[in-house]
Amino acid sequence: MSNLLWQKPGVEVEAGIQRFLAGDDVVLDREFFLFDIRASAVHAQGLHIIGLLDDDELAGLLRELDVLAADFASGRFVLDDRFEDGHSAIESRLTERLGDAGRKIHTGRSRNDQVLVATRLWLRERLDELAGVCREVAGIALERAAAEQGIAMPGYTHMQRAVVSSCGMWWAGWAEAYIDNAVRARDTRAWVDANPLGTAAGYGVNLPLARDHATQALGFGRMQVAATYAQLSRGKFELAAIDALGSALLDLRRLAWDLSLFTSAEFGFVSLPAQYTTGSSIMPNKRNPDVVELMRASYASVAAARCEIEQLLSLPSGYHRDLQFSKGAVVHAFGRGLAALRLLPNLLRNLEWRPQAMQAALEPSMYATDLAVDLARQGVPFREAYRQAADPASWASSDPAASLAARVSPGAGGDLRLECLRERLCVLGSAVGICRDRSES
Ligand code: ARG
Repeated sequence: MSNLLWQKPGVEVEAGIQRFLAGDDVVLDREFFLFDIRASAVHAQGLHIIGLLDDDELAGLLRELDVLAADFASGRFVLDDRFEDGHSAIESRLTERLGDAGRKIHTGRSRNDQVLVATRLWLRERLDELAGVCREVAGIALERAAAEQGIAMPGYTHMQRAVVSSCGMWWAGWAEAYIDNAVRARDTRAWVDANPLGTAAGYGVNLPLARDHATQALGFGRMQVAATYAQLSRGKFELAAIDALGSALLDLRRLAWDLSLFTSAEFGFVSLPAQYTTGSSIMPNKRNPDVVELMRASYASVAAARCEIEQLLSLPSGYHRDLQFSKGAVVHAFGRGLAALRLLPNLLRNLEWRPQAMQAALEPSMYATDLAVDLARQGVPFREAYRQAADPASWASSDPAASLAARVSPGAGGDLRLECLRERLCVLGSAVGICRDRSES
């Protein structure tokens, strides 16, 4: 490891302790490195604004930060355990290339606000991706809901056959869920969009730092004003982002459950795209829904990250090294969660229903509720209608199309209100086909 930023003369740093302190920081910091470089450039501009860097020093720093970003992106510069962390790597590189200008970059900042701002920028980008994939999923679900309104499928409660449902209803549910998830990702992005840079170690500094400039240059919606709050928000903002991610993954878990059930021979309602199934190493006959199962399992990683960060936050105010562990949790959660979500659009686009198997699973009892409500509409008190409709002799009707067409309560098979969902999705600025059509009409 190269010289530590904080090393004191005459005090040897024991290698084992140093390794423990650094942990996997230098590896995790690869996630945040480009954001750290970007924020460092803005910090340098700020120092120039308040007269602490001259024009040449600023130009040199901005140039070398650009070169470092390009070298990192191309693999010419590797962030590894030569450095304690990404922050040290930036300062050491600038110092090596520029001498004193490099030694000045840390004026008025601390690694405490440096890690906060890099994480914040990273979170913003992850939440944008989350919102985007949720919108895409919602768009596909809406399109398929419209196209497949007429395909009947059994509706279950308690895993028991209940009433006639439809693929349209199944899809509409996921469409609305993912619109809500996209809204939540967008709103969370706005909530975490606050600039902590310039709060230094958590108590500000004796310099008139150009915090407004930094806020604006980094595209933040607002400044995190109170220096002490910046540190309080570490982990708290990560939790909010994880919750937004968890919302999408929680729905994915249930969707994956449906698909793994429906794809079994016992149901046989759906066939998954071939690329989404795998074989067995021993049973030649098997096609397994492994991808869907790992999608379902991904929620566990998100929930674990939530739990880990929540446990870490049992701290008094101010910076504590404990907070370093929040990075691994949030990186792991978004890594797993987004990887699962990225595979969802194509899965949904390409899954195929088996309408005959679904039709065969509709049994006469599943019209009993329709009949009871029909009688009630004709004036029979509902409890009496319920009693009459419980009699199997009364279950004459068994026309799923008629049952669905008559289900006119808004949001049900006869009145899916897809245009309302489409409107909500398109307001989110969705680029999906259905919104393009809408703007042309
Ligand atoms: N790796 C550290 C973290 O993630 C960076 C901040 C270090 N600050 C300090 N005061 N030791 O928290």
